[in-house]
Amino acid sequence: MTSPQAPIPKRVLFVCLGNICRSPAAEGLFLHLLTSQGLEAEFTVDSAGTGSWHVGKPADGRMRAAASARGIDLPSRARQIESADLERFDLILTMDHDNRHQVQSLAQGMGGRATAEIRCITSYCQQFDADHIPDPYYGGEAGFDHVLDLLEDACANLLRELRAA
Ligand code: 4NP
Repeated sequence: MTSPQAPIPKRVLFVCLGNICRSPAAEGLFLHLLTSQGLEAEFTVDSAGTGSWHVGKPADGRMRAAASARGIDLPSRARQIESADLERFDLILTMDHDNRHQVQSLAQGMGGRATAEIRCITSYCQQFDADHIPDPYYGGEAGFDHVLDLLEDACANLLRELRAA
């Protein structure tokens, strides 16, 4: 008798500029969705920044406060994306055009070794008509809530699509 094989975890990396606001929020929201549906073993989830200024830091306190008000924990510590991420993850979801451009440039420098699909996360938005997640770092509190609204929309549809795949 053969036992059913455990599915290979789907590997998802969220990427923004500093890895302290938007991508940690996406990571925390997606992890929250997975845990609430008992799916955490089926996925590997992480986040990274294209820049290195905040490496080692927790998510920005304003982002953590806005997420916490929705019952979401943001566990990430900032790190910078590296070439190996483009082989290690199946799907890399960027927050804006600049991030996507940076990740695509990294992929192009790898001589065909990059295997990850690179997409802007807003391609999963259905309630919102958005083509990027605005950087909230230099703005007020409302910007952090808006980021969460957009990412909640995107992450719910992302999970639905990945489960159906
Ligand atoms: P994030 O936001 O890319 O969503 O993490 C930013 C965080 C820090 C900076 C810019 C954007 N910064 O210039 O330090």
